[in-house]
Amino acid sequence: MYELIRTEHAARRGRFKTVHGTVETPAFMNVATAAAIKGGLSAFDLKEIKCQVMLCNTYHLHLRPGDELVRDMGGLHRFTRWDGPILTDSGGFQVFSLASLRKIREEGVTFNSHIDGRKIFMGPEESMRIQANLGSTIAMAFDECIKNPAEHGYAKDSCARTVRWLKRCKDEMARLKREGLAVNPDQLLFGINQGCCFDDLRVEQMKEIAELDLDGYSIGGLAVGEPTEEMYRVITVVEPHMPKDKIRYLMGVGTPGNILESIARGVDLFDCVMPARNARHGHFNTWGGIINIRNAKYERDESPIDPQCDCPVCRNFSRSYIRHLFKADEILGLRLGVMHNLYFYNTLLERCRDALDAGNFEGFREKYSKILDSRI
Ligand code: GUN
Ligand code: ZN
Repeated sequence: MYELIRTEHAARRGRFKTVHGTVETPAFMNVATAAAIKGGLSAFDLKEIKCQVMLCNTYHLHLRPGDELVRDMGGLHRFTRWDGPILTDSGGFQVFSLASLRKIREEGVTFNSHIDGRKIFMGPEESMRIQANLGSTIAMAFDECIKNPAEHGYAKDSCARTVRWLKRCKDEMARLKREGLAVNPDQLLFGINQGCCFDDLRVEQMKEIAELDLDGYSIGGLAVGEPTEEMYRVITVVEPHMPKDKIRYLMGVGTPGNILESIARGVDLFDCVMPARNARHGHFNTWGGIINIRNAKYERDESPIDPQCDCPVCRNFSRSYIRHLFKADEILGLRLGVMHNLYFYNTLLERCRDALDAGNFEGFREKYSKILDSRI
């Protein structure tokens, strides 16, 4: 499944084989929360923007249209027409960030839907059943993303519960497969490291879950308001305890600079809403930094968003035209912006892989880590 091809210090160039295709790593996963990329991109467009993996959400799809409907429509692949790898997040994070009136118990979490307020219960078994109905390539374990800052005592208890939940996820997934209830009988399971910013909890929890021989390991609970240096410290502390022969995923991160710094610390997989969200606000990534397309200086600018970009948008349209679309509130502006930014992220990761192949990732990181996050 995961094959480590080469390393440069802690950075890894690898390959992850799944039944829905091979993922060259490091890789960025393109977020399609409710089975659609926000900004109006379809499965056709994903091919054009070098997407390797699509990421969908258990929580959102359970609420709407309902995971049983998706199952009856043949699963997420058939439903969305994306035939490559799909990762589904477990709902753990979204329950804690979106839902209201939460109550956490050993069995799971009771909460009110953010759509219609209706009361819902989700625990490890429910999350696995939903993800089995969705038929994703990779299912994430049901976890608690601890808020930051948190008390050490609370974080310790929460981490221990997340480990118990993980074991229940593993058992339930095995049962669903055994009983022929999984749309994808080859579905993979990733565990999630938690522990807030406490090094002792992070390391202890990672050692425990490393023994469960899962298909991949994620670091969760980061990029939730802690200083960036704190996030890098946690990755550096946890990484030596992550299995070398398994893929590693840093959840919800981040800026191009964050991604380069995290690859340098041994991470293989990323996802983030930032490129699509920034694009919808007219903030575009370029190889020289971030531009705001609404700026008056682009009014008569015939050059593309990024002269160094060869995405379908930059090959065809001018800054002047895209600025007009944003000023006129035309939805085409959102679509073109999202296409460019996601292409940028997917290309950034492709260039990281090329740099690793050439043994020059250090040079690449030094050249781009700061500049890509700057506003110009
Ligand atoms: N997405 C970003 N962070 C997290 C996390 O800690 N847990 C889960 N399940 N998803 C996430
Ligand atoms: Zn472009």
